[in-house]
Amino acid sequence: MGQGTDSTTSTTSTSTDRTRERAREAAEGLAYLSGFGNEHSSEAEPGALPLGRNSPQRAPLGLYAEQLSGSAFTEPRAQNRRSWLYRIRPSAAHPRFSRTGNGNLRSAPFEETVPDPNRLRWSPLPEPPAGTDFLAGLWTLGGNGDARQRCGMAVHLYAANTSMTDRVFSDADGELLIVPERGGLLLRTEFGLLRVEPSQVALIPRGVRFRVELLEESARGYVCENYGRPFTLPDLGPIGANGLANARDFLAPTAAYEDVEGPVEVVNKFCGNLWAATYDHSPLDVVAWHGNHLPYVYDLRRFNVLGTISYDHPDPSVFTVLTSPSDTPGLAGVDFVVFAPRWLVGEDTFRPPYFHRNVMSEYMGLIEGAYDAKAEGFVPGGGSLHNMMSAHGPDRETFERASAAELKPQKVDDGLAFMFETRWPVTLTEQAAGAGRLQPDYDAVWQGLERHFPAP
Ligand SMILES: [Fe+2]
Repeated sequence: MGQGTDSTTSTTSTSTDRTRERAREAAEGLAYLSGFGNEHSSEAEPGALPLGRNSPQRAPLGLYAEQLSGSAFTEPRAQNRRSWLYRIRPSAAHPRFSRTGNGNLRSAPFEETVPDPNRLRWSPLPEPPAGTDFLAGLWTLGGNGDARQRCGMAVHLYAANTSMTDRVFSDADGELLIVPERGGLLLRTEFGLLRVEPSQVALIPRGVRFRVELLEESARGYVCENYGRPFTLPDLGPIGANGLANARDFLAPTAAYEDVEGPVEVVNKFCGNLWAATYDHSPLDVVAWHGNHLPYVYDLRRFNVLGTISYDHPDPSVFTVLTSPSDTPGLAGVDFVVFAPRWLVGEDTFRPPYFHRNVMSEYMGLIEGAYDAKAEGFVPGGGSLHNMMSAHGPDRETFERASAAELKPQKVDDGLAFMFETRWPVTLTEQAAGAGRLQPDYDAVWQGLERHFPAP
């Protein structure tokens, strides 16, 4: 019996190695199309893309034409999103979906716990059981809004140690911003292949099918599920025409398709639940496409960090990479903000982030290194939540150090942190509120901030 188990394990690990090797080969030298929000087009076979019309009487090469909308047909042109797909079979050719287990995925509305005004911090996810893929490894921390109303967001983490094989995922509830912290990923999407490594992010639009394959033995990271309006680049106002995340640094895939006949499990997240159907072919069978409802990869190291060259800090909104606008101008459903390497040169300025209480709620994660407002306890793969109006800022050690520091130009380049900042409080799932990884002593980082008034 023991012998049999060993041989099964060894067969499984060999096939895992082969899958990883294939993923690594596929991820080498990928060609991309540059530019956020562009009307891109791509064909994996010459002549697959019809010219001059979207839906000819007979699409080229015997393909089916299909439109995928990311906005209502009638939304203003600047917000209108759709892509035309030319595929081996139309998406409509599928069997019935049935409910399947949600695993550790949860969705808005979040009502398992009472919203918590406390400052909270978690250690990283533990290693998942062997054989956990990206989808099975998703674990929801919390969120807000309502997936059925297409508003709000969810914070998920993932930990995986195997590639998705013979199954694909799509999320009707929102777009997925994937923020790897450990381990590169190959995303095989309907539009083609994206490679995303730690310090890069990938954006998968609502409804787009994809499979996640691992480029290393394990992978870990964060996901912002945005139920609201699609992420877009923030307006720049007086900053001008350039800066922050530059549109040209967002890379869309080029068309690549699978011509696979055989059982493929297609999992669809719909109004908070996972539904699955077994197709007799791979739905990643798009041979050509054009449009602007597209996945992207973006390297956070390309972010053009702006800051003070005189005194004080600009508010951290100046670190916004992507924003999901709400119906109220300037008020985001969720902002994705990065704290990238930068110089600090402010004169007579307390240089770490200032103490603050915000109307927005902040979930913060760390991709690598350390964050300049927290000397310890905030580690890569972990995260903190500072809900609406909770008071926070530098810990005591950081405050003492920064108050006494000599203010010469200083490069902050020992970490990469990010924030999902959202208009509504984040309500925790039961599993997040009860996690052993929730650090019981987080408040202590602000203990010992002594009074100095009146100054001697
Ligand atoms: Fe904050």
